[in-house]
Amino acid sequence: MGLTRVSGLLFGGDYNPEQWPEHVWDEDVRLMAEAGVNMATVAVFSWSRLEPRPGEYDFGWLDRVMDLLHANGVAADLATATATPPPWLVREHPEVLPVDAAGTRLDFGSRQGYCPSSPVFHAATVRLARAMAERYRDHPALAMWHIGNEYADHTLECFCEESAEHFRRWLRGRHGSIDGLNAAWGTSCWGQHYTAFDQVNPPRKAPGPVNPAQLLDWRRFCSDALLECFELERAVLREVTPDVPVTTNFMSILHGLDYWKWAAAEDVVSDDAYPDPADPSSHVAVALSYDLMRSLRRRPWILLEQASSAVSWREVNVPKPPGMMRLHSLQAIAHGADGAMFFQWRQAKYGPEKFHSALLPHGGTAARGWRDTLALGADLRRLAEVAGTPTEAHVALVLDWDSWWGLEAPESMPSNRLRLKELMQAWYGPLHAAGVAVDLVPPLGDLSGYRVVIAPNLYMCTAEQAAWLGAFPGHLVVGPFSGVVDPDDQVHEGGAPGPLRGLLGVTVDEFWPLPDGTVQPLRLGGRAVPARTWAEWLRVEDAEVLARYEGGDLDGQAAITRRGRATYLGCLPEDVTPVLREVLEAAGVEPVATVPEGVEATRRGDHLFLLNHTTDPVKVDLAEPGTDLLTGRDLNGLTEIPGRDALVLRLASPGTRRTNEGER
Ligand code: GAL
Ligand code: ZN
Repeated sequence: MGLTRVSGLLFGGDYNPEQWPEHVWDEDVRLMAEAGVNMATVAVFSWSRLEPRPGEYDFGWLDRVMDLLHANGVAADLATATATPPPWLVREHPEVLPVDAAGTRLDFGSRQGYCPSSPVFHAATVRLARAMAERYRDHPALAMWHIGNEYADHTLECFCEESAEHFRRWLRGRHGSIDGLNAAWGTSCWGQHYTAFDQVNPPRKAPGPVNPAQLLDWRRFCSDALLECFELERAVLREVTPDVPVTTNFMSILHGLDYWKWAAAEDVVSDDAYPDPADPSSHVAVALSYDLMRSLRRRPWILLEQASSAVSWREVNVPKPPGMMRLHSLQAIAHGADGAMFFQWRQAKYGPEKFHSALLPHGGTAARGWRDTLALGADLRRLAEVAGTPTEAHVALVLDWDSWWGLEAPESMPSNRLRLKELMQAWYGPLHAAGVAVDLVPPLGDLSGYRVVIAPNLYMCTAEQAAWLGAFPGHLVVGPFSGVVDPDDQVHEGGAPGPLRGLLGVTVDEFWPLPDGTVQPLRLGGRAVPARTWAEWLRVEDAEVLARYEGGDLDGQAAITRRGRATYLGCLPEDVTPVLREVLEAAGVEPVATVPEGVEATRRGDHLFLLNHTTDPVKVDLAEPGTDLLTGRDLNGLTEIPGRDALVLRLASPGTRRTNEGER
């Protein structure tokens, strides 16, 4: 079974017909059919047009759009249209509009203008979702529901009184009593002892640093409060259309929302990704988020939005040079997506996104972009058999939002330079370059099948999580500043690495953050490797020392240690490749393919993807013969891939794996 009832790979994009006169719609669907579009996301921002006055619906235009789509072979990813509350709602109930940390109520005139905790907003969204579900439950175009849009894009948090009340209810649920909250938040510090819940507020703007435990609970609450908005609508959809899958489009690796929790609440994971064409390494960063999307439910996902060329929201919006739109689309498929869709179908005539690229550019069918659209549609049809195929990885990176929120609390950390995404990339980059498949896992997640688990940082770590890592029979790598605090952001007894101490055999005597621009040299396997940003004064209790600092304040101290199969890094080496290479070798992890620099290799089932992200042709030595689905050529041995081009090989000997299954 595919992700939706549409077979093959999904191709299409956001379609906003309400921005165009109806005569344009005929051309739209005709061109969609020509390009092989099989799915369109509709009605995302249509609330004010679908319900122009409270309880009064105007579905006629959307009926015609849905009919037209269906008649032209295009399925609908139909939004419940609740991403922007209409003017009548916010004028009648100004409390629906969100309030910022300084107490300013934001006005109407953009999008996502809602307080996530507003009962008025909730009731109105549920009413509209029900009306939509009842209207379109039997429509043949309906293939998937799309709730909200990029939750937390503009509105992650609201500091109004309604949100404060909601936060207090949430805190009661978490801490039970006000004394429970006092203990968890450490309110004896700075005289913050509360005697009643109604004294507790969201972390509004205060004279100095706000209690980090309060901030941490606020981050948890904000993710949960938006999830409640999603779940209220989902409950209606599940009731009325139990067989139609539900999604909401994620925003890659987003700090604000705990996507492990969110993904569990939806049927299909979908993502929006906008790698910057001006950044030559953006395909590496985006690959990590694609691997997260695949890992969230451990199955294929949909790239629901990307730009066909330039976006409209950067300082300078660089277009995608020829070949990049195709290559980036193939990249998502290579990382487990069963669709490559876009924002948006037809380039807008007005509004903040009028200069954002689209599948059908301002220049119409004569434009370069349109030729790319046609070509991509054809390519995706050639890859139809890839849909639904799995990805197998033997390496897992641990990602935990609670820990991330704790780590990046402002104003109270040893160094503000530890940013989780960068810490993850430090490991992911070399893995990606080596062509090694990677999954992401949440703490306490299923580790069966993995040979190497890497926790780039686990600032917050419980005894249960430490036991989970301790029980992993493979090779474990733990990055610095891990095992520092408990879930209330309170430092573990005896200091870091807290519950990981027995497993790692070291104690952190003192954190040693490095000033910007400086290095702390260390010697690793005969090589000098500089550490930047972070180091630690370690006390080695029961571990072997793999690397020591050489020179500087930490001269002679242990930098990297190993106890059994658990490696600990008390620092951030400029390049972790030497450590990684050794661990992968010991664990028997092999790359998907041996590839030159700039070439990305992934595997889905019996399909090998080789993507040349450089602008020059490269030669790849194929270990197994196969048929390139994009060109139909049978290939073997030394094969050239032109610049910004790709091979998608159906391997001739299905079932052969280059990794040694026997060892698992
Ligand atoms: C996304 C959003 C779309 C569109 C797009 C432009 O964040 O979901 O509606 O605004 O960005 O890049
Ligand atoms: Zn609010």
